[in-house]
Amino acid sequence: MKRRDFIEFLGYSALTVASSQLLISCSNLKKQKLGPIKGIKPNAEDKLVLADGFEWRRVISWGDKISAGDTFGFNNDYLNYVSVPENKDEYLLWANHEYVGPSRTIMGLEKRTKDNIDTELKSVGGSIVHIYKDGDLWKYKENSGYNRRIDGFTPIKFSNKRKIKGSQTAMGTLANCAGGKTPWGTILTCEENYQFHYGDRKFGEEKISKAYDEWNKFYPHPPEHYGWVVEVNPLNGDATKLVELGRFAHECATVVESKEGLVVYSGDDKKFEHIYKFVSDSKVNLNSGTLYVADIKKGKWLPLDVEKDQRLKDKFKTQENVLVYTREAAKVVGATPLDRPEDIEINPINGDVVFTLTNNNKNDNHHGKICKISEKGNYTTDDFIYEELLIGGENSGFSCPDNLGFDPFGNLWFASDISGSKMNKGIYKSFGNNGLFLVPASGPQKGEVIQIASAPIDAEFTGICFAPDGKSLLLSVQHPGETSKSQAELSSNWPFGHGNIPRSSVVQISGDFFKV
Ligand code: FEO
Ligand code: CA
Ligand code: CA
Repeated sequence: MKRRDFIEFLGYSALTVASSQLLISCSNLKKQKLGPIKGIKPNAEDKLVLADGFEWRRVISWGDKISAGDTFGFNNDYLNYVSVPENKDEYLLWANHEYVGPSRTIMGLEKRTKDNIDTELKSVGGSIVHIYKDGDLWKYKENSGYNRRIDGFTPIKFSNKRKIKGSQTAMGTLANCAGGKTPWGTILTCEENYQFHYGDRKFGEEKISKAYDEWNKFYPHPPEHYGWVVEVNPLNGDATKLVELGRFAHECATVVESKEGLVVYSGDDKKFEHIYKFVSDSKVNLNSGTLYVADIKKGKWLPLDVEKDQRLKDKFKTQENVLVYTREAAKVVGATPLDRPEDIEINPINGDVVFTLTNNNKNDNHHGKICKISEKGNYTTDDFIYEELLIGGENSGFSCPDNLGFDPFGNLWFASDISGSKMNKGIYKSFGNNGLFLVPASGPQKGEVIQIASAPIDAEFTGICFAPDGKSLLLSVQHPGETSKSQAELSSNWPFGHGNIPRSSVVQISGDFFKV
């Protein structure tokens, strides 16, 4: 795609802004006078490398104490925040903790003993950490009464008192990848690759597939208790699994509040799976509504509702079965298979729903793409236009796009996720370590893809989150050293170096960019 087309695609031309019916927050965007930014070249160093003019500082890392009994979890991913009620200048930072899996050599947890599995269960879920600004730096309060963990052991109820596989409560949340935030100040944390922990099973079958992490060896919970969007109140830790939003490998849950209603977009990050949207019946909760899946070819949202579709009624009988076995229901109605849908963000300039398809080697898509859905009319409508925006590869300079974010100026940021086993090898060699990229909305480089950061060895940048004051970026550096062979043979020791074991961390990225 030519840069001019990309500018059009992002709505960075005046014409698109003026004509958009979906204009949501363009008028709130901060103006920015951007001079030229010199991007970095890909590299394979065990460092967080930044373009000139940017600097980073560690905010919190795996293992840091957050209360008398709790520490910050492993592999931090999605980040978001809410205000502390007593002090509007202080915030509660929510961080997802995704998985231990391939990184367990770092923790010395290779053996599948109960003690090791218990340690893993305590390492996933999420952290709530009280943060404040000290000068220009974001820091956390070690002893705040708000600090708490939600982990693989926390009892979590299902919405609407539903009983799923005989229980109104599930043990814990896990595989917490990306997420979202509601207008009423709760966090949505998404359970993604649940099958690694408790396996999976098809509708109507008893057989459970092998769970790679074998957590079900000691905790034989049904797979149906996982794969949900979980709503968490960061003020008190109250959590609910939202059955109405369906069950699949939820990458994210991106909430849009519009005049017509409240909508949540979510992708299912698995090869040949789908993109969904939930249209809520209410603007103040997500307890009831209609779940739709995308037919990309026809530009149609297809309702997953047994009362509206005899094919669903014939196979699943009840709406609850449709919601528990959503992937199978999506196939029945003819949803379009996609190349691993990852993050979804709303373009603040024109309201488009921008998302990444990270890659799918089974579909000969090795470098992924950034795409968009333009809803026809409003977010609750049934029709949309789908377009591919930017194709990964040698020409565009990135591969495997995953996490997305629009900053307070309307610039697009995205991060790549080439898997540890493929990074710096074969067709991925020229891309170096994973990176963070910027597509400016203004200035001389408007519409260009500029690499701003390169991650330490094996790591991926996740959780793109602009700080509450808009003056810096809070970012997760996830899974450094993931391909380490043992604690004695580490592939990374970021961020401390000198032989220390690698620690996923939240970092603050600041610089003149955020001041202009
Ligand atoms: Fe957890 Fe699809 O990334
Ligand atoms: Ca992701
Ligand atoms: Ca990914």
